Amino acid sequence: MAIESYQSWDQIDFRSSEDGSIESLLSSGENPWMTLGIMDNIKDETLLAEWENVLNVQTQLLAAREVEWMKSRGLGRGGRPILEIGSANGSYGQFLANSFSHLTLFGVEANPNLSAMLDLETCPENYSIVNCKVGDEPLPQHINNNFEDCVLRFVAQHVSDPLRLLRAIYEGLPKGGSLFVIEEDDALFGSYPKSAGFEAAFDIWRRVTAAGGSNSKIGRDLPRLAVEAGFSVASYEITLRNSVEAGSQFNDLFIGASRMFQMTNPSLVSMKEVELVTEHLSRGEGTESSVATYPQVLLHAVKR
Ligand SMILES: C[S@@+](CC[C@H](N)C(=O)[O-])C[C@H]1O[C@@H](n2cnc3c(N)ncnc32)[C@H](O)[C@@H]1O
Repeated sequence: MAIESYQSWDQIDFRSSEDGSIESLLSSGENPWMTLGIMDNIKDETLLAEWENVLNVQTQLLAAREVEWMKSRGLGRGGRPILEIGSANGSYGQFLANSFSHLTLFGVEANPNLSAMLDLETCPENYSIVNCKVGDEPLPQHINNNFEDCVLRFVAQHVSDPLRLLRAIYEGLPKGGSLFVIEEDDALFGSYPKSAGFEAAFDIWRRVTAAGGSNSKIGRDLPRLAVEAGFSVASYEITLRNSVEAGSQFNDLFIGASRMFQMTNPSLVSMKEVELVTEHLSRGEGTESSVATYPQVLLHAVKR
């Protein structure tokens, strides 16, 4: 991300600059720090609750097929711990932990406000989350050199320097270790015949991510990024989920995401737009009269 894109100077981490000055940062010609797009430093409780809802719906709607795909490509086969980077509230990590109940799942999350939402009473015993911004900070000692596979789901799109994050993962993996990246790509959102509710939701999604520095088109860039970070691409798939097959959870995802995006950037999205999305999608638009699509982008990369 260009330096002009930062909204305030306190977003810049000067620790990476040779002498701590902005001049030396700029003359280095690179961005040695990372910000997290629309997820940067979220602390507002209402926004955290909206994120929690979206993350839970995404897990319910998408996780089972993703895990099946990753298992078929060897996730967990070696019996060693799995590292999940960008755990947020632990919704997806707990699903992983229950799917691999014989393994240890290390969750790592940059934002302590999100990881604090993990319910420790009901959390599976083989799952935990620690706070660390991977790529900027070293992995905690008990995790470093103690995992064989890494899962990165809906994280790379929010990182201002995804290559730096992927390189850090490459460094941490043993030879033969696997990285599984799950992403989306809004160029493959669609509805036919055009649905007013879904088209409004897609438009909100695209506007808020673009303005906030999250890359909602990263899906088709994953193979290039993985190779540039040093990985070999073992498998890459784009699977279109759709509103007819997935049912009401599909609509719930777009209703919840629209609310969360409005709260993220109220000057860009009006409540009226959110009401339109909610009204159309809660009465089941897309279940019969039209078909809406959502792409699941899945990458399996190996450190040779
Ligand atoms: C959209 S959430 C995805 C949560 C979870 N992976 C899932 O699929 O439900 C992305 C999360 O990644 C975290 N994140 C982004 N970059 C990170 C980094 N470099 N290290 C650790 N966490 C990071 C963000 O703080 C955010 O909580």
